[in-house]
Amino acid sequence: MNPSRTDARRHHDPEVRGFASDNYAGAHPEVLAALALANGGHQVAYGEDAYTDNLQRIIRSHFGATAEAYPVFNGTGANVVALQAVTDRWGAVICAESAHINVDECGAPERMGGLKLLTVPTPDGKLTPELIDRQAYGFEDEHRAMPQVVSITQSTELGTVYTPDEVRAICEHAHARGMYVHLDGSRLANAAAFLDVPMRTFTNAVGVDILSLGGTKNGAMFGEAVVVLNPDAVRRMKHLRKMSMQLASKMRFVSVQLEALLARDLWLRNARHANEMAQRLAEGVRAVGGVEILHPVQSNAVFARLPQEVSRRLQRRFRFYFWDEAAGDVRWMCSFDTTEDDVDAFVAALKEEMARQ
Ligand SMILES: Cc1ncc(COP(=O)(O)O)c(C=O)c1O
Repeated sequence: MNPSRTDARRHHDPEVRGFASDNYAGAHPEVLAALALANGGHQVAYGEDAYTDNLQRIIRSHFGATAEAYPVFNGTGANVVALQAVTDRWGAVICAESAHINVDECGAPERMGGLKLLTVPTPDGKLTPELIDRQAYGFEDEHRAMPQVVSITQSTELGTVYTPDEVRAICEHAHARGMYVHLDGSRLANAAAFLDVPMRTFTNAVGVDILSLGGTKNGAMFGEAVVVLNPDAVRRMKHLRKMSMQLASKMRFVSVQLEALLARDLWLRNARHANEMAQRLAEGVRAVGGVEILHPVQSNAVFARLPQEVSRRLQRRFRFYFWDEAAGDVRWMCSFDTTEDDVDAFVAALKEEMARQ
């Protein structure tokens, strides 16, 4: 037996993986190696270190000469900082009803950022110019919070992906109405892998002003960055990040993780693999009668509808979450460390549990 599995300080089985969340995965070994490399000696705190400096170069290579990265601890923090950066005190954010900023951040944009969210129901997690217009009105009406930014998520909370043209249309529409565009790119890498284009193709190249760039779901231990793509849209980012409690003192350890992902192709390898596992899973699930796949599988998520009882039995064998328990909807997420065997074992278990009905 692998001696490390019996180490008394280890409190879990490193061979057990499920389909609950890409956040359940650990850190990629190359990220861990990079953290060790950045250790030792003294470096200036609060972002004046050599790793954060180098990260700027890498970010510019991905997003163009005017891009500037502000590393932060987590995705909620990235969103709250980014959204505040492009709004006034009276500003509001138009987003999909299913957006993470609306349903999964404990009201942080509202309470910590003081931002009104104007939500729109969508069939697939994606906004369109027409859907934006359901909330893009009353700009001069002092009784209404002023729509100042459209926030989209790529890939979306439902695992779907905007094409570059769809993002362009949103940006043109928003800009024509005096609004900026924020993109929650917690899973930006998965979208790039699906579209098979560089990340800039569907961000700064088509008009996105500010980005929350994910690291954690892509193989980092922790750490994301706000990436300013349009410097004219923002003011005092450094002050805003500190005031929002997202300024890491030992920032080199956030920056070096993003460097490990982005300097070469680890970000893409990890995202491609996670996406491929989701495709394999979807294929397996499609062959099981009575299970419906709910959304196009375009990133690392598979949403499905099946009898609740089957899901409950399956949950005793593999971790995953209900998305809408009453409807019988579940979400199965793959990550950079999901294996083909994991997927095949899960599909086999699903088949067995469906047959037991
Ligand atoms: C779309 C999206 N945005 C942002 C986040 C970041 O959240 P956290 O604050 O947990 O890092 C998540 C995490 O699940 C997410 O799915």
